[in-house]
Amino acid sequence: MAEPNIVILDDHEALAQHVAAWMEKLATATQDRFSIALSGGSTPKRLYQLLAEEPFRGNFPWLRTHIFFGDERFVPPDHVDSNFRMAREALLDHVPIPPAQIYPMPYGDDAQAAASAYEQILQTYHGSEVLDAARPLFDINLLGLGEDRHTASLFPGTPALEEAMAWVVPNMPQGMQPRITLTYPAISSSRHVAFLVEGSKKAGVLQRVLNGDRSCPAARVTAQGDLTWFIDKAAAA
Ligand code: 6PG
Repeated sequence: MAEPNIVILDDHEALAQHVAAWMEKLATATQDRFSIALSGGSTPKRLYQLLAEEPFRGNFPWLRTHIFFGDERFVPPDHVDSNFRMAREALLDHVPIPPAQIYPMPYGDDAQAAASAYEQILQTYHGSEVLDAARPLFDINLLGLGEDRHTASLFPGTPALEEAMAWVVPNMPQGMQPRITLTYPAISSSRHVAFLVEGSKKAGVLQRVLNGDRSCPAARVTAQGDLTWFIDKAAAA
């Protein structure tokens, strides 16, 4: 994989504006279906809101866009902590994506069953049970960076980090809600991986990741295509 790209933006709004334009350019450069794995947390919310407003709302090829999730807190879809709820309120309720092209991570009694069900959804979309370097699963995979060095729901010291076959697994980070997450193989099967990192609180962990500290789960992310860090000046300090 080529060296990661690093793009530094002035602030939160400039980062969201830049990434929205970057996503629109990629989505409009093809006539094919276009798949995006959304990340959760707070950083991408402004990006999602921008994509739901003009000019992006009118320019983005929503009718051929498919929306997936990189991870999810294992809570009902209307729960305040749900990544799906955040994305629905900020973006999905406001753009003309056919509902059948929105794939929330399932919620139910059993996290493993939900993870397996989501893997089936991905494999049906992909048309194969085998990931193929020549045919990445996602066009864009959006990721964040936690202050504890995690990305998606790949937390330090958890079994999900070592999963080399499954595309989706449950994960139980200590002291947190159970999670469901894409694994490294699934995340890597992306034409474009984009980390969005902002704020001075992330500066320390970001430097460790960019220096290749492999104790940071985020440092172990690769991409079949390109990997770009979109960061604001506060995080880059
Ligand atoms: C989640 C996210 C997670 C997030 C980081 C950064 O479910 O919380 O997917 O991986 O990207 O925790 O979160 P912030 O953007 O809120 O700092």
